[in-house]
Amino acid sequence: MLRSTIKTLSTTILNNQSNFDTIKNSIDEIHKHYLETTNIGDLGEGMQHMAAVPTASGMALSLNHAAACLLDYRRTAKFLDGMVALIREKQQQFPNETINIFYAGCGPYAPFVTLVAPLFDASEVQFTLLEINAASINAAEKLVKALELTDYITEFHTSDAVTFQIPNAKKYHILFSETLDALLYRESYVPILWNMLPQLSENCSVIPNNVIVQASLTFPQKENEDTRKEKEAATIIDVREAVKANGGNQELPQTFAPTTINLADDQQYYTMIIDTKVHIYKDIWLYRNESSLSIPLEMEIQYPLEAPKVTLYYQLKPSVELKLQN
Ligand SMILES: C[S@@+](CC[C@H](N)C(=O)[O-])C[C@H]1O[C@@H](n2cnc3c(N)ncnc32)[C@H](O)[C@@H]1O
Repeated sequence: MLRSTIKTLSTTILNNQSNFDTIKNSIDEIHKHYLETTNIGDLGEGMQHMAAVPTASGMALSLNHAAACLLDYRRTAKFLDGMVALIREKQQQFPNETINIFYAGCGPYAPFVTLVAPLFDASEVQFTLLEINAASINAAEKLVKALELTDYITEFHTSDAVTFQIPNAKKYHILFSETLDALLYRESYVPILWNMLPQLSENCSVIPNNVIVQASLTFPQKENEDTRKEKEAATIIDVREAVKANGGNQELPQTFAPTTINLADDQQYYTMIIDTKVHIYKDIWLYRNESSLSIPLEMEIQYPLEAPKVTLYYQLKPSVELKLQN
């Protein structure tokens, strides 16, 4: 039975978090099964399955790109680890309750249902799935049926998580939304949290728990890679801090507050690095270059400095991206 095959592979990933080859082989095998079951490979590279979908703020990945996220091996393994650990924590905290999970942006494979649910009983966990891309949610529904996981799903919604009003919002113990890219570029994790967090209970936990975009400076100028040092220069955005500004129905701002970094110092710097630090759960983080989500942007600093101060800010409208102010 496919469900027990997936359960075994999922357990293998959880038990081998530090063994990359095992993680990779297990995820490749899961991918093979999911591809066969959903037939999304047959949809080919048609424009409608390659093009991103606009949301009220930000863009949602195409079906093909969303499916490919599964193969971001460390990302998938760490999010799986965090999700299972958080469900177990919630079970301890609420021993007589079914743990309700809201999954915003499930993609065609809904991996954080399809890899997670087989590890529990349907009386223990219930999922509500939301996805803006109709082709993706159709594939997810097909996969859920094939894996005989329909008992675990309370509802499927085809809608925009940036504006969606969650029915019965206070019942959820966990919000899961991996709707982000490196530098929080384009995708709608921030507007989704802005919309959803005020609706949910204060005790509702989020995966990923937070994303921090951080600037660092490397020095000295003339030395090789091995001896180069690095110092943290500034936090450009701390998402959980920033979305606290929405206590209720506040409209999403055009931008968040800017951060200025002063490059004029006693010493000359070599580069500025901007990292996307993805905090999944407790001590589980995606570190630099472990995943496509945590690829850093590194820029060489040219001397003499024409403008010693650099100001960066996160823009939410009209497009979602980090901006440099001049
Ligand atoms: C990065 S993919 C991740 C897919 C899957 N959850 C995974 O982790 O492999 C993000 C998914 O969220 C969906 N999405 C992005 N923004 C959304 C929005 N505002 N409302 C609903 N779905 C959204 C995309 O269409 C895409 O399927």
